[in-house]
Formats: sequence, structure tokens, C-alpha cells
Amino acid sequence: MRCVYLDNAATSRHKPNSVIEAVNNYLKNIGCSPGRGGYECSLKAGRIVLETRLAVAEFFNVPNPEQVIFTHNITHSLNYAIKGLLKKGDHVVTTSMEHNSVVRPLRSLEKRGIIGVDFISCDDTGMLNPEDVSRAIRDDTRMIVITHASNVAGTLMPVREVAQIAQKHNLFFVLDTAQTAGVYDIDFQELNLDVLAFTGHKSLMGPPGTGGFAISKRAAREMVPLIEGGTGSISDREYQPDFLPDRFESGTMNTPGLAGLKAGIDFIKEVGLNEIRGHELALAKKLIEGLEQIKGVRIYGPRNINLQTPTISITVEGFDTGELSFVLDNEYGIMTRSGLHCAPLAHRTIGSFPEGTLRFSIGYFNTEEEIDYTLECMERIVGR
Ligand SMILES: Cc1ncc(COP(=O)(O)O)c(C=O)c1O
Repeated sequence: MRCVYLDNAATSRHKPNSVIEAVNNYLKNIGCSPGRGGYECSLKAGRIVLETRLAVAEFFNVPNPEQVIFTHNITHSLNYAIKGLLKKGDHVVTTSMEHNSVVRPLRSLEKRGIIGVDFISCDDTGMLNPEDVSRAIRDDTRMIVITHASNVAGTLMPVREVAQIAQKHNLFFVLDTAQTAGVYDIDFQELNLDVLAFTGHKSLMGPPGTGGFAISKRAAREMVPLIEGGTGSISDREYQPDFLPDRFESGTMNTPGLAGLKAGIDFIKEVGLNEIRGHELALAKKLIEGLEQIKGVRIYGPRNINLQTPTISITVEGFDTGELSFVLDNEYGIMTRSGLHCAPLAHRTIGSFPEGTLRFSIGYFNTEEEIDYTLECMERIVGR
């Protein structure tokens, strides 16, 4: 049976060979802890971490590599930003299209009476009106946190406009780039970001267990380290170092993962973001146009590749999305994801709660032929 992977919004299943080789090289030839010893092998591991930090800083235009902090995924990074920066009495503005990695930490702080939060309603395509963000700002607002693009409907958020609002009101601006890093240009300085949260295992092509955040100097001064412990530096002290990146990086690093992440970023730079995005969006356009021709299919989101990522959510009249996803996989070898995609608020916004949608998400290694095959199979199933 064929094997067509269309769940790239969850993770990039196929990695460039160079990523696999970099992980392999670390495990086979290095294998030591970075920053924990003066011997050759540990220094080599330290060099991998440093080179990855430099690569991430350059990729997102972060002024100083020390401002890049590694975590295990973007969920950790967003928890850091939200729980590390917010204090009692703060108010936060966010959107109704957020992933639970933003919603749950915010709701948890709200439930404990620490913060107030406003979820700005987006329209039924998932689009955010920046004026609604402006209107929600109060005297006690301290942070705006938004996703760069919805993982459900692909909708791209007006980040530039929101960045200007955050700057005008002197608010912390936190961006969830899970669905865009590695496909869209993201400039830390241009957007005047305080926290650029990223995950390594999606379009950055790195292994699972990699991620991090870039942090502004002013946010770093205020952020409380959520995890403290061994850093390999100033070990004579019983208190966490106050310098970057050690202030926020305790415990043994995922060095094989970071070796892979560096290779993933190198791959993206070599191919070029324009080429990657162009390829993925051309396939998305073809898929949207094909799905529009199938009777009973309802497509959510902007349905316009200039306004969205290559993530397409649908429902089909008379079909359960879980069943559809199962049949696509079981009978045709096409991997998709059905349900609520860890984003129940987003589904409420676009009108697909509680059933959810069937989500196709395209990656750089998908081909035109795979999209033709997927459309053919959809027609066969729906036409039965
Ligand atoms: C928009 C968005 N934010 C956050 C996450 C969480 O990513 P991770 O599981 O890598 O922490 C995802 C993953 O699907 C996502 O799509």
C-alpha cells in the first residue's frame, strides 16, 4: 500500500538525510554532555550546542545568540513565557484560535486568581481583527500572546499589526511560531518580539524533543526561571546563574536533538524559505481546488493561500471525520489527523466544535502526485 504523510502540522515525519546523519554522528562519535567536562568529547558536544544556538539566532535575526534558550518543545517555551513573565494582577490579551499550549497555562493562572485574560474572538475563517486587540488593552494589560498561524485552519495572523499595538502600549509580545517557523520569514527584531517560541520537530525539520525561545533583554530581566539546577557554570554557588542562557537552561541538554536541529536549519537555508513555501502552498492550492469539487465537502479557513499556511481542515456531510481519517489510512495509506487538534477554542471559532475536522497538512516532501492521489481517494470514499 502507498504511504502518504499529510500530518505535517503535527510533526515533519520525513527528515533530510543530513538531520539523521547529524543525530547519528553525535550518538556514534561524541555521546558526551556539553559544558560538563574539559575533555575533548565534552568540548565537541558543547560546540554542537553553540553552533545550533548561533544558527537559530541567525535564522530568526536575534541580536545575540545568548538570547536563544533551548527547551524540549514549544509547549515548554510557552509555559516559560506565560508562567515566567506574568505576575499577580496582570491582564493578558490572546485570541480564540490558540493551541492548548497557550490556552491551558493562561486558564491555569486565571483559575488561581493570578491573571485576567481576554480571548479575542476571531471570525469563522479564524482571522483576527487587530482593532479588536487594541480595544481589549487595559491599564493592567502586560502581555499579548498569539499564534502566528492556526494549526486547525491554517489562518495567518496579522502579526505586524499586533506587534505595533504591543509596542505602542509597551506590552510583552509573545509569538507561537509552531506552524510557521521553517516556512515563513520570522524576524525577532523587526517584530519587536519579547518571546519568539519555536518547536524543532515540525517545519524546522529537527528531531522531537527540540525547541526553545528567543527572549528580549527586557523580558529576560523579568522572567522567573521555572526550572533551576545544574548548568555546568559557577557550580560553587547555590543559586541559579543570572546570565543568559544559563539562567533558563538547567539539566543535561538534548545534544543529539540539537545536532539534528542545526542540520534541519542548514537544510532550510540551503533550499530557501521561498522555495519551501512556494512548493507547499502550490500543493495546498491544488488540494483546496480539488476538495471544492467534491460533493458534501466543507472547507474551513480562508481558502486562500495568501492568507493561510498549507493546513486545510474539512468536514464531509454524512461522514464522521474520525472514520474518514481511519479509512484514508487503513485503505489508502494516507495519514491525516481528525478531531480537535488540541485547539478546542479554534474549533468553536470556526464552527466545528465538538466534532472537529479532518485535517490535511502539507510539508516540503509532499508531491503533486500525492495530492492527486489523495483527491482521487477522497472522491472514491465520499462517492460510495
Ligand atoms: C500552534 C501550535 N502551538 C503549539 C503546539 C505545541 O507543539 P509541541 O507539541 O511541539 O510543544 C502546536 C503543535 O501542534 C501548535 O500547532
